[in-house]
Amino acid sequence: MTPAARKIAAEIERHGPIPFSRFMEIALYDPECGYYLAGCDPFGKEGDFYTASQLQPVFGRIAAAFVRSLRDEMGAGAEFTLVEWGAGRSEMAEAFAEFNYTAVDVGRGAPPAEFSGVVFANELFDALPVDVVRARDGRWREMRVGRKDEGFGWVEGDPIAGLDEPAEDGRWRERPVRMEETLLAMTAGLRRGFVVVIDYGYTARELARFPQGTLMAYRRHQALDEIFAQPGEQDLTAHVDWDTLLSAAGALGLDLVRFESFAQWLLRSGEQDQFAGALQSESEVEATRLRRQLTTLLVSMGETFRVAVWRKAAGKQK
Ligand SMILES: C[S@@+](CC[C@H](N)C(=O)[O-])C[C@H]1O[C@@H](n2cnc3c(N)ncnc32)[C@H](O)[C@@H]1O
Repeated sequence: MTPAARKIAAEIERHGPIPFSRFMEIALYDPECGYYLAGCDPFGKEGDFYTASQLQPVFGRIAAAFVRSLRDEMGAGAEFTLVEWGAGRSEMAEAFAEFNYTAVDVGRGAPPAEFSGVVFANELFDALPVDVVRARDGRWREMRVGRKDEGFGWVEGDPIAGLDEPAEDGRWRERPVRMEETLLAMTAGLRRGFVVVIDYGYTARELARFPQGTLMAYRRHQALDEIFAQPGEQDLTAHVDWDTLLSAAGALGLDLVRFESFAQWLLRSGEQDQFAGALQSESEVEATRLRRQLTTLLVSMGETFRVAVWRKAAGKQK
């Protein structure tokens, strides 16, 4: 058993089956044995997955050009600060250096108490713990985690209320449980400016495409169904429920300015100079590398990922 598995097993021993969000919280964020905190580096070629933030310099240049346009719109001048929430390896630090950049992640970094500017998050919300429900006999029921053989397995819990989607037998889905508090923490110090969130996810209309839910494990660049295997040693992720995120942001007083596919956002951000700035290079070899990065962003991530941009007006936090 991994150290995280031992911790989870002990908790189940004490309290009985636990919510999946608790399993995910220990597996990913336990300070001693969680995947993101226990010292191994999950990102990039040697790790388990890539994010757009590793596609430097192209993603950084495009994102920086976009942030510049938001800064111009604000007319904020010297007061402008950019806080990246869920910054991981802080790979955006160089691209965002001109914006008084602060990186925040679990257990490290803190935003200024008050600031004007931008809060930026790439692939943060897909990494937040979720609960899991399954439909049976016309009702949604919580699926908890119990012990099974040497490891863990699903245990059906009580019926739950509050889901609009019809409970078609056999359907699974996730329920975000940390979304609102995370959004609140991200925006609490933002006096005036914008919130930019980039992530993969679905809207209610697209939910039909995921009858088994969207929960996945990642290890060595492979998506796996075995979400209970090796807790603490593989990534766990669920697609972002965009409708819930958009309504949580609205409830906090954020005004949605734009919600579009990542491809649309990239194309609009690059169209002013036909990507000349993003692709600027000193050699043909470098030019080829940068063109490949742009293609990966557009083709591999362009339609699965979306970008939401909200405006926060001064004094408008609920
Ligand atoms: C999939 S990684 C993305 C990292 C980086 N943004 C990138 O694009 O490479 C998710 C990151 O969000 C962080 N995270 C999760 N929950 C968080 C929270 N409540 N506050 C701040 N960071 C969080 C994780 O520790 C992890 O570094």
